[in-house]
Amino acid sequence: MKREQFSSSLGFILAAAGSAVGIGNLVAFPVMASKNGGAAFLIMYAIFVFFICLPVMLAEMSLGRHTRQNPLGAYTQIGQNRAWRTVGWLSVITPFMIGVFYLVITVWIAGYLGKAVLGQLDQLADPEGFGVFINSNELFVYMALVVGLTFLILQGGVKKGIEKATTVLMPALFIMLIALVIYVLTLDNAMLGVKFFLIPDFTKLTGEVLNGALAQAFFSLSLAMGILITYGSYIQKHDNIVSAGKTVAGLSLLVAACSGLLILPAVFSFNPDIQIAELSESSIGMIFMFLPKIFLALQADIGYFGASFVAAFFFLLVFFAAMTSLVSIIEVPVASVMDGKGLSRRKALYTLGAVMVALAVVSALSFGRIDWLSNILSYGGNTKSFFDLVYDMFYETILPLNGFLLCLFVVYRWKAHNLDKEIADGNPGFAGTVLQKYVNFSLGTFIPLILLIIFVNTVSTIYF
Ligand code: PHE
Repeated sequence: MKREQFSSSLGFILAAAGSAVGIGNLVAFPVMASKNGGAAFLIMYAIFVFFICLPVMLAEMSLGRHTRQNPLGAYTQIGQNRAWRTVGWLSVITPFMIGVFYLVITVWIAGYLGKAVLGQLDQLADPEGFGVFINSNELFVYMALVVGLTFLILQGGVKKGIEKATTVLMPALFIMLIALVIYVLTLDNAMLGVKFFLIPDFTKLTGEVLNGALAQAFFSLSLAMGILITYGSYIQKHDNIVSAGKTVAGLSLLVAACSGLLILPAVFSFNPDIQIAELSESSIGMIFMFLPKIFLALQADIGYFGASFVAAFFFLLVFFAAMTSLVSIIEVPVASVMDGKGLSRRKALYTLGAVMVALAVVSALSFGRIDWLSNILSYGGNTKSFFDLVYDMFYETILPLNGFLLCLFVVYRWKAHNLDKEIADGNPGFAGTVLQKYVNFSLGTFIPLILLIIFVNTVSTIYF
């Protein structure tokens, strides 16, 4: 069967931006930036996006387009040995497992959206309420909705599913984001938040913060998850990989920055004396408890209905962002099974989807509902739940390792001149440019080195 393709460069850009723009940009980024030096963090983040992440993006997209394969197929085809095939496996299992925890978080977002629409957001504004919600049976109703919607999109395939959904959801997302930023900036005291976000404090940029910023940039651009290899395998030969890559990186950065301009002014407007320490606790759960509080503070001005409406608008935005990311990550294992086993899209999707949903249910039960799942292992001095375990192992640990291996693979196995040749299709002027030299050099030297350092650093801090 002929491999499906995106109908145009724009189709790819929106799908890839859909993958990149997610909970990472809209929720994690503003919190990280606010406690780590505001604009100083933003500047470093932007540097990482263009100087470290962009070359990796181009490499992934080229690898996909060249091989017309999923990550496992790509590593196998070019690697030609067992060791690289194993790395290929890692590049399919990692997105699958990251998909499990991302599915759980997307379900929470769907729940927040539902609560906001029903005017019940106050139930989520304290730690207890949040705990009750993530352990309720209601959660599984939201899970069924999220899974149903994701399957519906993925079932349609590349053009009629992924591309069609992202061409509707992404522009809607941009419009909603801009509308919300404008609204928030008109609120009293909003400028305090803008100042807080935009005045750089370079003293906050410690090694640890930089490490976190790079890891966040990597995650946020959906790198090392095989997504851009897979989506890259659906790009046409005459499409320009460099401009598509730059556009996706730029859009993702822009959304992160806008989200900072949304969340921080909102926080300050609702509570000018806010203790940033309160925001600083960046554990996933804390952020989730904090968001409803921000919206509920609006009640004083526009009443409970008004506040619920604004909150619903915000959570719909995050929900769209999360859905398009979730779709991209599930497409990786689906494409692998379709390519590798010759299964139809539906069969691949339903089989893998069933396993993924089962694991997501297990994760959802590991927040206290089932004792042994909630305390499945102890390491680094902490007791971890099943959810924590998946998060630590795949997101924190294997993701940077995958990035490291990908760079080595592209430059030393596939070879830089083949990468250049692939990029030059659709971008004939590429050879001899500064960018070409930079991409070749950085991917073969300091980018893998930095990723290796992040990997070692994570292993030593999390597990020991
Ligand atoms: N880029 C996504 C984000 O910022 C991360 C992600 C992509 C997660 C794809 C899962 C799947 O949230």
